[in-house]
Amino acid sequence: MTSGVNFNVLSEDRIKTVLKTKWLAHDLFAFWSISTTNDFAYRRAQLGAKEGTLVIAEKQQQGRGRLSRQWDSPFNRGLWFSIILRPGLPASKAGLIPYLGSVSVAEAMEKLYQLKPNLKWPNDVLINGKKMCGILSEAEFKNGKIDFIILGIGINANQKEKDWTPELKDIATSLRIELEKRVDRAEFLAEVLLQLEKNYEDSQLTGFKNIVNNWKVRCPKYHKSIVVQQENEQLEGRFADIDENGFLILETESGDRKKIVAGDLIK
Ligand code: BTN
Repeated sequence: MTSGVNFNVLSEDRIKTVLKTKWLAHDLFAFWSISTTNDFAYRRAQLGAKEGTLVIAEKQQQGRGRLSRQWDSPFNRGLWFSIILRPGLPASKAGLIPYLGSVSVAEAMEKLYQLKPNLKWPNDVLINGKKMCGILSEAEFKNGKIDFIILGIGINANQKEKDWTPELKDIATSLRIELEKRVDRAEFLAEVLLQLEKNYEDSQLTGFKNIVNNWKVRCPKYHKSIVVQQENEQLEGRFADIDENGFLILETESGDRKKIVAGDLIK
């Protein structure tokens, strides 16, 4: 070790040493333990924190997933972080922001580790059919526009097989399990942030066509038959498209096109 930086901990110093971005995450808050990084980022955003502010924690006591689920966020194992974005887009476009997260994580996995991740709608990143990363974005709106949006990203990095709870054992994986070696979380974070900065800037300049196309090419179910589980029903059909607001378009056997805003792809 050449400096006083502890390489096993995601400290502010360690993150700043490896960061490769021009502006993203230059303002950052690094916690040992927090309820959830999304809530802290949300409050900072309400208080006027800058676009690109990063909030990260070694552990979340109340990590949150989509559809009010719990998100397991054990100490020192993963990357649990949230980014404040202020894209200035109409409120109707908020559903497109999470695609920036999942594609950036997939790109970072390909670039740093030569892994071949798949994406599952809406924004799960999977390896060999098991979940490695999930995205939860939460927005505040003002006058029909996004005032800010919190892009929350959870990445299973250094969990070992024996770390999983019984519920996660068969459905989750980590970078360490797939690569059969411990990963440097700060380096991986820096690569994700670099991809995210590039993708976000591109979306601001040219819109979301590129990111959605980059999402589709990594989704094996795109244009295939799927089953969507919603609260009270299952819908079957063909994954026909992702529309201009990020919703899934399901084409049923009768040829109807249904817009799916939320749900789980169970097949
Ligand atoms: C999901 O797949 O259900 C989404 C999981 C999102 C988890 C991340 S971890 C950082 C941020 N803080 C949270 O409480 N949730 C998101």
